[in-house]
Amino acid sequence: MAEHATLTVGNRSFDLGMIDGTTGPAVVDVRKLYAEADIFTFDPGFTSTAACESKITYIDGDAGVLLHRGYPIAQLAEHSTFLEVCYLLLNGELPTADEFADFEKTITYHTMIHAQFDRFFGGFRSDAHPMAIMTGAVGALSAFYHDSINVDDPEQRKISAHRLIAKMPTIAARAFKYSVGQPFVTPRNDMTYAENFLRMSFSVPAEDWKSNPILTRAMDRIFILHADHEQNASTSTVRLAGSSGANPFACIAAGIACLWGPSHGGANEEALMMLNEIGTVDRIPEYIQGVKDRKYRLMGFGHRVYKNYDPRATVMQKTCHEVLAEIGNADDPLLKVAMELEKIALNDPYFVDRKLFPNVDFYSGITLKAMGFPTTMFTALFALARTVGWISQWKEMFEDPQRKIGRPRQLYTGPLARDYVPLEARG
Ligand code: CMC
Repeated sequence: MAEHATLTVGNRSFDLGMIDGTTGPAVVDVRKLYAEADIFTFDPGFTSTAACESKITYIDGDAGVLLHRGYPIAQLAEHSTFLEVCYLLLNGELPTADEFADFEKTITYHTMIHAQFDRFFGGFRSDAHPMAIMTGAVGALSAFYHDSINVDDPEQRKISAHRLIAKMPTIAARAFKYSVGQPFVTPRNDMTYAENFLRMSFSVPAEDWKSNPILTRAMDRIFILHADHEQNASTSTVRLAGSSGANPFACIAAGIACLWGPSHGGANEEALMMLNEIGTVDRIPEYIQGVKDRKYRLMGFGHRVYKNYDPRATVMQKTCHEVLAEIGNADDPLLKVAMELEKIALNDPYFVDRKLFPNVDFYSGITLKAMGFPTTMFTALFALARTVGWISQWKEMFEDPQRKIGRPRQLYTGPLARDYVPLEARG
């Protein structure tokens, strides 16, 4: 049972309510603090601030726990499929067989994109980063689907969510095809979500494309591992953009832009570049020394919330071994470097003291490279998978009667009011 908190400022005292969640730390309710006390709270980086109430995803960073609607990520990765996880995140419960069949059909039949949309890709330089293309292309969806943008209509919100989940693989595969100068591949309705995406990415007109069940399962699992992660930077961006009632496709484009940064989704690309740079196991000590000298960070390590092994990294490591074994590359020198680096870092007091463990991005790069994706596509794949998390959180925000436009305040440390000085009078 939540107690109440008292804030004492000089000789004034304010009673603040506290609210319990289902689990996790209780929150101090400061919503009326400014009105009653003329005080703001200060929390750059939101390290102690719950910006919303949510029922979707729970993380216990100290215990290394990640639950979607209560289900542990390891169980979902092992037994579920990405589309089932999409249904779960969006609707709150696992689907019945009929509900799933209906959902799968809906998503499958929304995978095509408007024919005019393809011309949009031609506007980019051929060496454009796929994330630049994704940010632009997903934003451009807002110019194509005018019939699902009334954010106050639950049915239209549902349709835009389905469209986004369905069209992201088509757009990501086109961003890839465009960057390698190959023709676009049309989605097929007789394939699963992951299989369809792999075919759209790797099929060429010159030969038949054969699906590989191990790689398809790995792709699906990678999508599951990236599906949602509560109020991370990109999700908070989507919520903030959406809080003004903005177009849902534009809000997801904002999320993609935020995800691109190297401290967030861009870390998978950086982690693989780091492993390439280290190159061989004997160079690891020198590299670790550079980290300790603060020349650079160990990419794919550390997390704002996890102060324990990232549960997604455990599954990712297993998937990495399965993929490398399947393509006959179990001795990949990069995997050797990664495993040795992990071993050393997990025992080195510098990393142990700071609770720096491998995160999901550490093994995803090697896996995606082995599957045939260039490093520039890694974050685009993250964006594809995270779209369901973004749109589920966006949808939840609109179902929340407490919704308000997001409007943080600030601690102002600039100059006080002063008079304008004309140019000729400035010394
Ligand atoms: N390598 C070396 N030192 C690190 C690292 C790292 N990867 N991450 C944190 N530290 C150190 C940091 O220098 C600081 O040490 P000190 O207290 O001595 O100054 C301490 O650990 C705390 O770091 P912080 O920057 O205050 O922690 P944060 O919670 O703000 O940062 C992070 C979280 C993910 C940005 C950071 O760990 C990082 O830069 N990691 C590398 C990038 C990465 O892998 N990102 C992917 C995150 S998982 C996927 C996703 O959610 O997008």
